[in-house]
This record gives sequence, structure tokens and C-alpha cells, in this order.
Amino acid sequence: MHWLDDYRQKQVTAEEALRCVQSGMRVYIQPGCAEPEALESALVKRAPFVRDVEIVHLLTMGHADYVTPEMAGHFRHNAMFIGGNVRKAVNEGRADYTPIYLSEIEGLFESGAMPLDVALIQVSPPDPHGFCSFGVGIDTTLTAAKVAKYVVAQVNDQMPRTYGDSFIHVSDINAIVDVSQPLCELPYEPITELQRQIARNVAKLIVDGDTLQLGIGGIPDAVLLELTDRKDLGIHTEMLSDSAIPLIESGVINGARKSLHPRKIILGFVLGTRRLFDFISENPSFEFHPVSYTNSPFIIAQNDRMVSVNSTLQMDITGQTCSDSIGQYLYSGFGGQVDFIRGARHSKGGKPIIAMPSTAKNDTISRIVPTLTPGSGVVASRGSIHYVVTEYGIAYLHGKCIRERAEALIQIAHPNFRNELYDYCAHTKWLQKPLADLSELAQG
Ligand code: COA
Repeated sequence: MHWLDDYRQKQVTAEEALRCVQSGMRVYIQPGCAEPEALESALVKRAPFVRDVEIVHLLTMGHADYVTPEMAGHFRHNAMFIGGNVRKAVNEGRADYTPIYLSEIEGLFESGAMPLDVALIQVSPPDPHGFCSFGVGIDTTLTAAKVAKYVVAQVNDQMPRTYGDSFIHVSDINAIVDVSQPLCELPYEPITELQRQIARNVAKLIVDGDTLQLGIGGIPDAVLLELTDRKDLGIHTEMLSDSAIPLIESGVINGARKSLHPRKIILGFVLGTRRLFDFISENPSFEFHPVSYTNSPFIIAQNDRMVSVNSTLQMDITGQTCSDSIGQYLYSGFGGQVDFIRGARHSKGGKPIIAMPSTAKNDTISRIVPTLTPGSGVVASRGSIHYVVTEYGIAYLHGKCIRERAEALIQIAHPNFRNELYDYCAHTKWLQKPLADLSELAQG
């Protein structure tokens, strides 16, 4: 059958398409800016007809109505990364959180450890050959669509066409719901002076020809602002935001010296605004891949001079890093933090960086602490941390003993908390020298 006839036969309403969801099934929803909102609304309307349906996804930005208390017994969400829309439900016990490296999620789907019954995806209209593009994100979705027993696609003419391993053929879709609606956007937040101070310190570690991975948030965005005088930067990352556009347009990011995929920006998904969606549309500079590829430490390490920049919520004085919870309060997820720390660590000339403000809550809480708050989850162990950057400087921890780590981290902690940290280390006998003697040890 010609794909166009196939397409027409599969066209249904969202409500009709979602009848495929039955009690006890596991449903995958495409995350990020590709979240298929019309399909999600229809899924929620299925609630009276189903019980014990598990809904799996990474960070989404929509209403996530399936986690409201009334949905108990019908739906239960399992978050592979906790977004603001599901955080309350997770912490009230109405939804679950699975801590996992981003690079390893697709393995769960493929191996059958977490089989998928239904995948809800959003794609561009088909090209003349019947291929729809995943557009703003491949992430774990290409694999989810390959392994799910039933694939429902929201086909949106506002989804950009992007290149790479970013296509699904009409014949691999079971039901098609046509829509024309704006994609979810992650609004651009103004960058603060504090973020710029941290970014200036991070930028000291980035030189011409480096390949960058930048995580989510204000600090990575601010880092890009500090790189306008660099040359031949490359990108190999799980995600990219609007902030990269000026450096790409000015030629600072051109991938000319990349050792893997030269000239190409390799990524798994974008999080940003319509400006970014238009920028990546049919843009051959961008090559999208599943995150099992972009985040494989073995692939990352093939990029020489790989610099990864990620953030954290709390770090103890030995370098143990808690990035997914605030104490026992489950906050976000592993994402690609550890994947990129490991990859950058094994890259020739690579630099894994954790960048964070020295405090939280208007300087009332130090993020560098004697011991992690009970209940905190270690995302990156102290054995894997290399560079730590705050607004007060750079600490280099790799290969350093506990005494040296404590000395270096106290120097980049907020001054209001340095005595407390020092007192703890004196109590544990890790430090004996007066604090004033330690200033030369902050730089890596
Ligand atoms: N104690 C108490 N509260 C804390 C805290 C601490 N130690 N550290 C941060 N907080 C609070 C902040 O005050 C803020 O609260 P608010 O929203 O009420 O102002 C909130 O927690 C979030 O902190 P913030 O520093 O603004 O977070 P962020 O948006 O910069 O994200 C991470 C930081 C760590 C949550 C995020 O980078 C992440 O999820 N990382 C793990 C995954 C990862 O790195 N993936 C790779 C790239 S995507």
C-alpha cells in the first residue's frame, strides 16, 4: 500500500486513538517540547475506563492531569526525571521516581525490563517518502516508538523537520491524530549577576577547540555568554537551549576541531522557544540522536577536549554530589550528569565540571555542607568529581585526599559558612591548618 493511503486509513480523533489504552498497560509519553498535549488530554479522559495504567516519561512541561489525586487507581506516573508538574505527586506518594542514568533508559525498554504497551509521540507531517520527523527531540522516544506494541502519533505541522536519526515512517505508526498547535516552550529566563559570576569562572576552563555539553538552567546559559571570544567550539550534548544560537550564528560554535562528527552539533533534544525550533528546522548543522548514543560515556569520550557543565543542589565537603533531591524531597533526576562526567573524564584533555551557586535561599543555606542532609541521594560520587565551580572560584578534587578536598571546597564556599565547614573538618581531624593558610589551594 502507498504510504499516503496508509496514512489516511490511520487518521482518527485523539479519543478514538486512545481507546488502545487498557487496564494494566504501560504508556510512554514523549517528553520536553515535543509533549503531545492533545493525546495527553484524551488519555486523561480514558480514566473512568481503565485501572492501574502506568505512565512513564522524562521531564514534561504540561498539566500532567493524570497525577491529580482523583486519578489514583486509574493512572500512576513513573518519573524518569521529575519536573515541576509532577513533583508534588511524587513527594505525596501518588507517583513514583526511578533514579537512572539517561543513557540507560532505552536499555530498559529494549531489554524488556520495562516493556512498553503504548507510545504517545508527536512528529512533523510526512515528507514525500512517508517519513515523519521527531523534530525537537529524539531523546528516548525513537526507541520507545520502536519497541512499543502500539504507537499513536500526534502529527503537527508546527513541528520542525530535523536531521539525524530523527525519522519514523508512517508504516511504523498505528494511529494518527492531526493537529496544528504551538509546541510546548521552555521560556527564556533572564540571567542573574550571580549566574554570570559563576559562568566567568567556568569560562576560564574552556579554551578554543573544546567540545561542550551544557546542562539545563541559568548557569549553562550564562556560560555561553562568556564564550563570545572563543574559536572553533563544538557541541556534543543531550540538550541545547536558545542560548546557543548567537554563538552558532557568529561562528564561535562551528565544530571545526571536533574529533567525532566534525562540524555537526550532536544532540538528543532541544528545550527552548519557537525561535530555537525555527533555527533547527531543516538545519544540517544539527544531528539528532537517541540519548543512548549522545550520552554513552564511550561515545562522549571520543570527543577530544570534552567539557561538560552540570549543576547540583548539595555537595559534601568530600565531593559527594546530590543533584536529584533536597534531603529526602525528590526534586529532579539523574539526567545525563553522570554520563557526561564519565565521558568527559575519559576524553583526551576532557574536563567534567560541576557549577553551582555557593548558597541557596538568599544565602541562608550553604550548598557545600559538612555532610549531606539525611535522605539525600548521591548522583555523582566523590570519586568521579573533578572541577567544582562557584562564584568564589574553582576547586579541583580529582586524585585529591579528603584533607585537600576539604581545603579546596572551603575556599569556594560562601564566606558566611567557611568557619562552620572548617570547624567540622577540625572536629573530624581532616584539617589542622588555620584557614588563612589555605587560600592558594582553591585553584585547580
Ligand atoms: N537546600 C535547600 N534548597 C535548595 C538547595 C539546598 N542545598 N539547593 C537548591 N535549593 C532550592 C533552590 O533555592 C531552588 O528553590 P526555589 O525554586 O524555591 O528558588 C530549587 O531548590 C532549585 O534550585 P536551583 O539551583 O535553582 O536549581 P536549577 O534549576 O539550577 O537546577 C539541578 C539544578 C541540580 C536541580 C538541575 O541541574 C538538575 O536537575 N541536575 C541533575 C540532572 C543533570 O545535571 N542533568 C544533565 C543536564 S540536563
